[in-house]
Amino acid sequence: MADDAPLLAVDALEMRFGERLIQTGVSLKIEKGTIFAVMGGSGCGKSTLLKHLVGLLPPAKGTVSYHGVDYWAGDEEVRSALRAGFGMLFQSAALWSSMTILENVCLPLEQHDKLDEAGREARAREVLEWVGLAPFADFYPSDLSGGMKKRAGLARAIGPEPPLLFLDEPSAGLDPISSRNLDELILDIRRRTGAAVVFVSHELPSLFAIADDGIFLDADSKHPIAHGKPSELRDHCDHPTVHAFLHREAEPSRPPAAAEAAPTTGAGSS
Ligand SMILES: Nc1ncnc2c1ncn2[C@@H]1O[C@H](COP(=O)(O)OP(=O)(O)OP(=O)(O)O)[C@@H](O)[C@H]1O
Ligand SMILES: [Mg+2]
Repeated sequence: MADDAPLLAVDALEMRFGERLIQTGVSLKIEKGTIFAVMGGSGCGKSTLLKHLVGLLPPAKGTVSYHGVDYWAGDEEVRSALRAGFGMLFQSAALWSSMTILENVCLPLEQHDKLDEAGREARAREVLEWVGLAPFADFYPSDLSGGMKKRAGLARAIGPEPPLLFLDEPSAGLDPISSRNLDELILDIRRRTGAAVVFVSHELPSLFAIADDGIFLDADSKHPIAHGKPSELRDHCDHPTVHAFLHREAEPSRPPAAAEAAPTTGAGSS
């Protein structure tokens, strides 16, 4: 491991599902303590990028390295050691349905050699408290709302205090106040642990409030079209797609479909 190498570096990554190209030419660097945003329209490949960053999908081309170590060049032992430093909240929350919320949150803590069973439970209850789910520790995932499942997934990801945290749409399904609290929670985790956080979000207030850096993936050209701090991109990036996204405007060349844009009445609208 090189001391001066970035915590995470992606170089000329190409992501494909079979023949289907999702994104190409993705390069980025994330240093310790950075809050990094992955932005772009629906379907551009944000979740797919996160899955490449946590070693769930191998690159079609290019490299993903941690501390200068190429994740896919090493053997499974090296990969497993690197993965121990990641926490991940999936877009779907991905909780184990047969386990209670408390058991779900305890699970990754089992890798933690320093904690015995009582210590794991205490830690799990502490993080459930942070995300406002302490009273629901003994519930099963099916008994929680979408936003609550998301918070349970977040508690599971942050429990071991990993140096690298990946959060796929952590505030989706949260009301604005919970979303604001989540921003504070992410800042607090960074302050206390020095972790870097990579997050996918469509929430403009969160992007502008907490992200230090970011990348914008374009679904049409299938490559990144902007790099930088979201609030600076909002003020200075003149790419029409980035501008429209960060100012929440319709792109002039791509008006919303009439059926989607028109208010609907009666049964069947949602
Ligand atoms: N396992 C898979 N096999 C084949 N195609 C996939 C697979 N997973 C995702 N895709 C496709 O890859 C593209 C990117 O998907 P992805 O979920 O990464 O988008 P996204 O940017 O996260 O979108 P959203 O904002 O809606 O979550 C989509 O067209 C999707 O259908
Ligand atoms: Mg996604």
